[in-house]
Amino acid sequence: MLKIENVTRRFGKFTAIDDVSLEIPQGQMVGIIGRSGAGKSTLLRMINRLVDPSEGAILFEGTNVAQLKGAALRNWQRDCAMIFQQFNLVPRLDVLTNVLLGRLNHRSTIKSLLGMFSREERAMAIAALERLDIAKTALQRAGTLSGGQQQRVAIARALMQNPKVVLADEPIASLDPRNAQVVMESLRDINEREGLTVITNLHTLDTARHFCQRIIGMQGGKVVFDGGPDDLTELAARRIYGADGMKDAFSEAITSTSISRGTPKPISELEAVLAAR
Ligand SMILES: Nc1ncnc2c1ncn2[C@@H]1O[C@H](COP(=O)(O)OP(=O)(O)O)[C@@H](O)[C@H]1O
Ligand SMILES: [Mg+2]
Repeated sequence: MLKIENVTRRFGKFTAIDDVSLEIPQGQMVGIIGRSGAGKSTLLRMINRLVDPSEGAILFEGTNVAQLKGAALRNWQRDCAMIFQQFNLVPRLDVLTNVLLGRLNHRSTIKSLLGMFSREERAMAIAALERLDIAKTALQRAGTLSGGQQQRVAIARALMQNPKVVLADEPIASLDPRNAQVVMESLRDINEREGLTVITNLHTLDTARHFCQRIIGMQGGKVVFDGGPDDLTELAARRIYGADGMKDAFSEAITSTSISRGTPKPISELEAVLAAR
């Protein structure tokens, strides 16, 4: 169980997340929807501690992960893998190595950087790639793959962390509809087969309704809707998107503007590790 208790996040005087409380049972597939600026990314990033709450608690299996430091924090970040809109692969490295980087938090960095992955880890990486139907790309440079394939590599890398929770921040916003479908099916598949909690920000209501058991609607940093796909009536959608935002809610052509809004761009795990040394 993941419990978000009265969480608020301020940036200066601006309140991006305003006293949000949620309980997410293990194994749920949750879609978070809302207009750009509603606070979706901030909420997800606080769960994984890329951003710290200003107030409130985030409890996972009883531990307040908002207060973790050092090794305990790294363990939590391993337990909740994050998938980004822009994939965050290392484009010059081959697919297999990118997937193996998901093991970084399980092992010594020096070994990882020297490419000393064990036979077991390599087998695990191949299995993850097979699972996502992209094993044939294993030796290609990640940057040469299509967006949909790259996002599947990112999911395979996330699986290498053996996570309990998978967080995905608009994983399909940069993809064409066909690839978007494949990626959403992959997320649903790991949710169903592995019993992993999947929490994904989605720009459009249709995708959330189609793939998620539970939909959380945000507006102005608050949760304004929380229910199943069938509860998401037009009235509820208006509350989430506002009357003038309804056309965005249904348009697959609209992509997230999070990258251009000046929010910090996530860096690749490899860069993060190098920076931390
Ligand atoms: N690092 C930051 N500094 C200042 N303001 C931020 C920062 N991150 C997010 N915000 C602001 O918080 C609000 C919510 O942002 P965000 O969580 O990215 O929304 P969404 O993902 O729903 O588009 C926006 O108004 C955004 O500009
Ligand atoms: Mg966002």
